[in-house]
Formats: sequence, structure tokens, C-alpha cells
Amino acid sequence: MGFGDSLKIISGSASLPLSRQLSAELSADLVEVELSEFADGELYVRVPDGVEGEDLLLIQSTYPNDKLLELFLLQDALSDSGMRSLTVVIPYFAYGRQDKRFSEGEAISSRAVARRVEVDAARVLTIDVHDKRVLSYFAGVALDVSGMPALSRYFAENGIDMVLAPDENASRHAKVVGDLMKVPWDFLKKKRIDSWTVETEEKALDVKGLDVAVVDDVISTGGTMASAARILSRQGARSVVAGCIHGLFVGGAEERLKVFDDIVATDTVSSSYSKVSVAPELAAAVRRLS
Ligand code: R5P
Repeated sequence: MGFGDSLKIISGSASLPLSRQLSAELSADLVEVELSEFADGELYVRVPDGVEGEDLLLIQSTYPNDKLLELFLLQDALSDSGMRSLTVVIPYFAYGRQDKRFSEGEAISSRAVARRVEVDAARVLTIDVHDKRVLSYFAGVALDVSGMPALSRYFAENGIDMVLAPDENASRHAKVVGDLMKVPWDFLKKKRIDSWTVETEEKALDVKGLDVAVVDDVISTGGTMASAARILSRQGARSVVAGCIHGLFVGGAEERLKVFDDIVATDTVSSSYSKVSVAPELAAAVRRLS
């Protein structure tokens, strides 16, 4: 089902800056929701009247955990609102990295999230979900939008000569960015020891005197990025920039990332490093659905 004439945007508290940008890109009204907490920390959400018969875009990143719960409550509130359709946009889809059972008995956490989200949603949009397998957990329409063009714009403005993926999984992102910018790209091989520790294989790179961007989907502890930066510095890169779509920056990440000359993230997760917006890419995806 396409969108009618009147599309309204509803933002959860995790995604207000991006929702405002998207509202401007699409010339669509942004509806304010009421959010508060009870004394015991339980969440309260209320959507105002006036969404009857409307096509709605509900935007909420699901990090940290309480934002996931807020999304579920907002969906429930909207389910009785008389809306015409609901498209749920999850810019950062948390639990995307637990997209399969790595050991017997584990939850497939991203499937658990998908099963709840799709109950009240006609379709779902994500941005650079960690693995596309996650999309298969939705029985209905689920599409992933690439935010890599946004990072490419930033790198191009900042004279980046080469793009490097810090692990094999991110090599597809480095390829997209490198191809868009028409600069060379390469990748490293990483072994994850635990949540906090990674080992990256040294590899000869042609980076002497170059301004290099390291690109990944997520920066969490910053360990992956820092390990790549040390290799680049040892091999004579002139400057190194850390670029990611989703910047979580947990547990001392800022200290670890001091090896970088610059750090850039998008606004899928708001932080002081959200220097580029994925709103143009998201708006284009929404227009394609119209
Ligand atoms: C994992 O494969 C992801 O793409 C990132 O490389 C990872 O989440 C980064 O984590 P950290 O910043 O903690 O090294």
C-alpha cells in the first residue's frame, strides 16, 4: 500500500533530530507525542488525536534498551488511533548482531524484536541493519536503506584519499563508500576475542601520506576502529578518520578513539559525533514507497 496525500511523522525520543530533518525533507508534519516516566521508572506514552485516516511514519532507534520498550508502547498506542497505515522506521536496529544462534540455547534476539514490531506495522524500514538476515524475520515488507552515501559526502568534503574496512564484514561498506567517492578501498581481517577485545591481522597497505577513513556500520566500544587506526598509523597514513553509521560509543570508547584525527557518525543514534544526517537517504526511500 502506498502513502496517501497526507503523511505524518511520529518520533520516539531516541530519534528526534533525525525525525526533524526528515520532516523538513518530506514537508511532512511532525506529530509531538507525550512521554513521561512513572515514579518506579515505567514508561508512559500517549499519542494525540488527529492521526485518524493518516499514513504514519513512526521513527525510533532502539538503543538503549528502554527505547525499544518505548517503541513497543508507541506502536500499541497507535494501533487504536484509526490511522490508515503505519510504517515503522528503526534507524538503529538494536540486537541486529544477535541475528542467529552462535551457541545452542541462545535467543535469536533480532527475531524476537522483529516479531513484536511487525504486529502493528504495515512495513518496516531500517538503516544499515547489521546483517540483512534480520529482514527475513519480518513476515511483511522490511527494507534496509544504506546510509553510506551520507558518510561519503562527509569524507569527500574532508579530502579522504582511501577507505578501509576494519574487518571483512565491513568490506561491503568500504566498497560502497570507495566506489561512490571514486577512491581506492581495502579491508583488514579481525578476530573478536570478547565484547571488549579484538585482534586485527597486520597487512601491508598502500597508505603512506594518505588521508584514510575507516568505515564500519557500528562503533560500540571503539576497539575495532582503534585497532585498525594503529595499523594505519604504523604504516604512515597522514591522517585517520573513524566513520560509522551507528555511533554507540560505550565504555571508554572516546578514550580508545583518541588515536583518530576525526570521528564521524550519522544521526541514527544521536551524539556529539552525529555530523551527517541520513535524512536524504531515508526521504528517498519513503518517496519510493509512495
Ligand atoms: C561487528 O561486526 C560490527 O560491525 C562492529 O565492527 C562492531 O560492533 C564494533 O564493535 P566495537 O566498537 O566494540 O569494537
